[in-house]
Amino acid sequence: MDSTKPLKRVAMVTGANRGLGLSVVRLLCKRFDGDVYLTSRNEERGKEAVKELQKEGLDPKFHQLDTTSMESIDRIKKHFLEHYGGIDVLVDNAGIAYKVKSTVPFGEQATNTIANNFYGRYNVYRTLFPIVKPHGRIVEVGGRSGARILNAINPDLAARFRSPEITEEKLVELVNEFVRDAKEGKHLERGWDTTAYSFVKTCILLLTWIYARHLKDDPREDILINVCCPNACQTDMTGWIGRKTADEGAEIMLYLALLPPNAETPQGQLLLDDKEQVEWRDKDNYTVIGPPLY
Ligand SMILES: NC(=O)c1ccc[n+]([C@@H]2O[C@H](COP(=O)([O-])OP(=O)(O)OC[C@H]3O[C@@H](n4cnc5c(N)ncnc54)[C@H](OP(=O)(O)O)[C@@H]3O)[C@@H](O)[C@H]2O)c1
Repeated sequence: MDSTKPLKRVAMVTGANRGLGLSVVRLLCKRFDGDVYLTSRNEERGKEAVKELQKEGLDPKFHQLDTTSMESIDRIKKHFLEHYGGIDVLVDNAGIAYKVKSTVPFGEQATNTIANNFYGRYNVYRTLFPIVKPHGRIVEVGGRSGARILNAINPDLAARFRSPEITEEKLVELVNEFVRDAKEGKHLERGWDTTAYSFVKTCILLLTWIYARHLKDDPREDILINVCCPNACQTDMTGWIGRKTADEGAEIMLYLALLPPNAETPQGQLLLDDKEQVEWRDKDNYTVIGPPLY
C-alpha cells in the first residue's frame, strides 16, 4: 500500500451472489463513493453475479468469502488491510434457511443453522470489527422474528437475553444450550421456540447490541452498527413469495450503510423496512409481534 496516497473507501457485502446481498451490491455500486466488493463462498457463482452487474453498467469487485471458514475470513481481512487500510462499510448478510416443510431432523437443522447463521456471522463480526475505520457503518441483516422469539421463549431464558449484563460469552453459552437441547430433542420442553432460523435472528440482535456497547469505549470515531429487517422479499430463501422485490428490501440495508458522517443514531438498533425502530429489549413496550412474515 502506498502510504502517500489517500485511501479509497471500500464497502463489502457477504453472501452477495444472489438475493438481497446482490441487490445491496447493485445499490451500493450506484450510491457509495468507493469500491464495492461482492463476496461469495463459491468463486464461480460470485464471478457470474459480478458479470450480471457489469451488464447493467456497474463495476463491483470480487473476493471469495465463506463465512463458515476462518481461513477465508482471515484472507479477506488481510486483503482489505493491505489495499484499503480497513473497511468502511460491512453488510453482513449471508445466511441459510430450512424450508418450513423440511423433514431434516430439528437437531440437525439447529446445528447447521447455528454454524452458518450464528457462528459464521459472529466470526465475520469479531474478525472484521477491529479493522472497521472511523465513520464506518456495520449493517446486520436480521429479522423482526428475532424480537418475536424473545416473547415466545421461556421467560427465564428471555430474561438472560434481555439482561443488560449480557456479554458475547454469555450469548455463546445460550447458543450452545439451544443446540444441545435441540440435539437431545428437548428444546420445547426446555422452553425454546420451534425455529432455529428465528432464534439466530435473536442472537444477531444481541450481538449488534453488545457490539454497539463496545463502541462506547472505542477510540475510533463515529462507527455505527445496526440490524435491519428487510421485510419478506422475493428471493430463493422465501421461494419468491415475499411482499417486496430484493432491490426494494435492500433499501433499508442501504439506508443504514450510508448513514451520514456523525449521525450518532441509530446505534445498536433493530430497524424495520420502513425505518421503525423496534424496542425489543423492553417486553412491555414491544408491540411488533405479529405472525411470521412468510
Ligand atoms: N428474503 C427475505 O424475505 C428475508 C427477510 C428477512 C431477513 N432475510 C435475511 O437476509 C439475508 C439474505 O437472504 P436472501 O433472501 O437474499 O437469501 P438467499 O437468496 O437464499 O441468499 C443467501 C445468500 O447467502 C449466501 N450464503 C449462505 N451461507 C453462506 C456462507 N457460509 N458464506 C457465504 N455466503 C453464504 C448464499 O450463497 P450460495 O448461493 O452459495 O448458497 C446466498 O448468496 C439472510 O441472512 C436472511 O436471513 C431475508
